[in-house]
Amino acid sequence: MPTITWKTESGAEISAEVAEGHTLMEAALANGVDGILGDCGGSLACATCHVVVDDAWVTAAGSPTVLEEDMLDLVEAGRRPNSRLSCQLRAHAGLDGLVLYVPGA
Ligand code: FES
Repeated sequence: MPTITWKTESGAEISAEVAEGHTLMEAALANGVDGILGDCGGSLACATCHVVVDDAWVTAAGSPTVLEEDMLDLVEAGRRPNSRLSCQLRAHAGLDGLVLYVPGA
């Protein structure tokens, strides 16, 4: 299982092994990551699962879909260059070591 690390602006750092196929929004909730709410349950309707992908992981994380792009414009903390909605990121072996920042938390 890949290990994912979330870092918040307040300095918290949480790392967890995430089963392949699980979304990184679900994993954040399961591990008590501040700032990730996932209000819509992952249906691309709330933008409360906002994360910023570490520069080194942008290629591995892939590109947002058109629908995700639209929702990214609504994130509360303001969109950043590597912003993603973590309900659209699924754990897989290629993301082992991934670092995500949680803006505004
Ligand atoms: Fe609502 Fe990701 S959980 S957009």
